[in-house]
Amino acid sequence: MKARKISNTVTWLGAIDWDRRLFDSLIPLPDGTTYNAYLVRGDSKTALIDTVDPSMAHVLLRQLEDVPQVDYVISNHAEKDHSGAIPEVLKRYPEAVLLTSDRAVNVLVDSLKISHERIRVVKDNETVDLGGRTLEFLYTPWVHWPETMVTYLQEEGLLFSCDFLGCHIASSDLYVTDKARVAEAAKRYFAEIMMPFRNHIRKHLDRLANYPIKMVAPSHGPIHSEPHFILDAYREWAAEEPKNLVVIPFVSMHGSTEKMVDCLVESLVEKGVNVERYDLAVADIGKLATALVDAATIVVATPTVLGGPHPLAAYAAVLANALKPKAKYLSVIGSYGWGGKSVEALAGMIPNLNVVVVEPYLTKGSPDQIDCDAIDKLASAIAERHASL
Ligand code: FEO
Repeated sequence: MKARKISNTVTWLGAIDWDRRLFDSLIPLPDGTTYNAYLVRGDSKTALIDTVDPSMAHVLLRQLEDVPQVDYVISNHAEKDHSGAIPEVLKRYPEAVLLTSDRAVNVLVDSLKISHERIRVVKDNETVDLGGRTLEFLYTPWVHWPETMVTYLQEEGLLFSCDFLGCHIASSDLYVTDKARVAEAAKRYFAEIMMPFRNHIRKHLDRLANYPIKMVAPSHGPIHSEPHFILDAYREWAAEEPKNLVVIPFVSMHGSTEKMVDCLVESLVEKGVNVERYDLAVADIGKLATALVDAATIVVATPTVLGGPHPLAAYAAVLANALKPKAKYLSVIGSYGWGGKSVEALAGMIPNLNVVVVEPYLTKGSPDQIDCDAIDKLASAIAERHASL
């Protein structure tokens, strides 16, 4: 992919990773991703904002062949999918200075072996004059790491947001065209990467509201020429108030726990509660994470295996604990053969979740009508709590 013009002074550079299917050996990427970098040319200086994943460094270096001078390389975020090509860029431009936040310095030095002499720390709100174009650096910790910042091009109202406000879509679209597709991908991305940092995100959004933003150029996914689309979506996702939704991650070995899930789904729907259920044996874990953005209640359904929850249910609990969704209520249902400590074990895996436990219900063997009636009571208890949402 060749460089693409955004304005008279700003050019998109970067790489489209059509085939990548996993990020951080954890996050599924059903639609691939992009690593966007941006070149900003002032009258006297040129800045390169972020780079690309090291596996795609050759693509960026080829795009830079027609760029005789880069004065500043800006690292908004030190994770390697954006910083990984910085060493090669600094080698190509021996006069270039690397600008980054104070907390990024050691990460860049440690992980990329960049020399301290090449780095200059920029402060929050500091500006750099490129000659007719001014870049302002805004510290935005925890989108996605503690060192993250965004860069604002004042004269054009263009926000280079790196991970923040991005999404994992490999597409030839330079700008958002299919809003529905981008909204879904951005929500999944928010769930997997940003959700634990909702408090920080709300503060960043408040601060950014003081800046006239005409365009948001993230480092993953297409550029937002209508920035309110993504800024408003983030406001909603980062809000603390959940929706009338129960998410049920479940595992069933011989069908008993699944029958209990069926009873619960039916009862909840009858009572006007929305439900999403995910069979953990086959579920796309990104879809489950996305559902957790809105859920008021999580019900984990698991058989008892070797005295505890099924390992897949344990995985879902650990994942939810790491993602810290806004859910207010939690319960457990499931079937057992001999007994065990599934509920206690699951409870110990979610110390980060600020939830009220709604009385769990376990049954021995295959569930019957008595069990479905008990689950109906659980559904009533949940619906009652959801009534105030
Ligand atoms: Fe796209 Fe946190 O890196």
